[in-house]
Amino acid sequence: MKKTILVTGGAGYIGSHTVVRLLEAGMKVVVFDNLCNSSSTTIERIERISGTRPEFVEGDILNEDAILHSLQKFSVDAVIHFAGLKSVGESVSNPLTYYKNNVVGTLNLLNAMRQLNVKTLVFSSSATVYGTGSTPPIAETAPRSVTNPYGRSKLIVEEILEDLYRADPDWKISVLRYFNPVGAHPSGLIGEDPRGIPNNLMPYVAQVAIGRLQFLSIYGNDYPTIDGTGIRDYIHVMDLAEGHLAALNYIDRKPALAAFNLGTGRGVSVLQMVDAFERATGKRVKYEFANRRKGDVATSWADPSLAFQEMGWKASRSVEEMCADAWRWQSTTL
Ligand code: NAD
Ligand code: UD1
Repeated sequence: MKKTILVTGGAGYIGSHTVVRLLEAGMKVVVFDNLCNSSSTTIERIERISGTRPEFVEGDILNEDAILHSLQKFSVDAVIHFAGLKSVGESVSNPLTYYKNNVVGTLNLLNAMRQLNVKTLVFSSSATVYGTGSTPPIAETAPRSVTNPYGRSKLIVEEILEDLYRADPDWKISVLRYFNPVGAHPSGLIGEDPRGIPNNLMPYVAQVAIGRLQFLSIYGNDYPTIDGTGIRDYIHVMDLAEGHLAALNYIDRKPALAAFNLGTGRGVSVLQMVDAFERATGKRVKYEFANRRKGDVATSWADPSLAFQEMGWKASRSVEEMCADAWRWQSTTL
């Protein structure tokens, strides 16, 4: 029988790409999203890409009854939980908003799931839980520490899930720690649509290339790296989407609570990324060097071997594909 998956935050950037993959894999999907950082046109586009329309509930995870209602109405088997706020700077200014949305919202979801005996969950965590103290490649066993309320909201939820699993081992939980998600669906129909001026590198680069922003400020050229600029593990959002499918299959086979890094295992500097973008798109990206950004680390990349060993998943898309797909979305749809 077809599995039914409730995807909180399924109209957002990573959620929408994952929904496409779930539908393509023959699953039934219910998107549960309050659209605070997305739009319902994404649902139409998911349908255009996959040929199937997911169910859509405009709902808030701060409303436990609404979650209960959807879990019941659609006889949900498992939940993938993307819904959350994700801006580090905003979380520093408005910590309570972040804790309420990301922590209280998740508690509501877990309570609703428990009441209906739906105990299979994939949770969107982040490499931010590794803080600034680890030397790459970073494995799942690296110590966790956080430097801002956004990161703390992810760490708190990870710890809540650990307590929940200890209390009731019937839960099947996969915690996925994403490194730096970039790129878009190759159709150019869905992608990342940051509001205002982007904070993250790839959308900023794409907006410089299209002429909406004048130049990229590269934060620091004096790091102890190959060219002095910061190094990160950029991962194509479609690889990430496939990681969620692998995680769902895995917890079905091997019930447990397990955390996995989703990254490529490859570090790329800011200058290397700019160069790859120019080569992949034929567009010039003007840049200037600026001071280091507060809170940044010099280098971060994953040891993704556990995800391969356990779930048989590994990222396969190149940096050039990430750039070409991000550009197709930026130049044709945004
Ligand atoms: P996104 O903002 O594009 O998607 C999040 C979705 O959740 C949006 O559609 C938003 O409308 C919805 N949402 C937010 N609060 C909600 C609420 N209270 N009720 C219902 N829906 C709500 O973000 P994304 O980049 O797709 O990130 C998805 C998840 O992955 C988030 O939990 C984020 O913290 C995590 N994550 C993202 C990154 C990244 O770089 N994008 C990295 C690591 C982890
Ligand atoms: C940032 C967040 C991190 C979050 C992640 C989500 C901070 C300090 N960290 O991580 O908590 O989980 O986004 O995707 O905000 N860069 C520039 N110029 C720019 C933008 C970025 O030079 O205009 C550089 C950065 O210094 C860094 C690299 O590009 O070296 C990647 O930056 P970004 O995309 O913001 O990701 P992270 O810093 O890894």
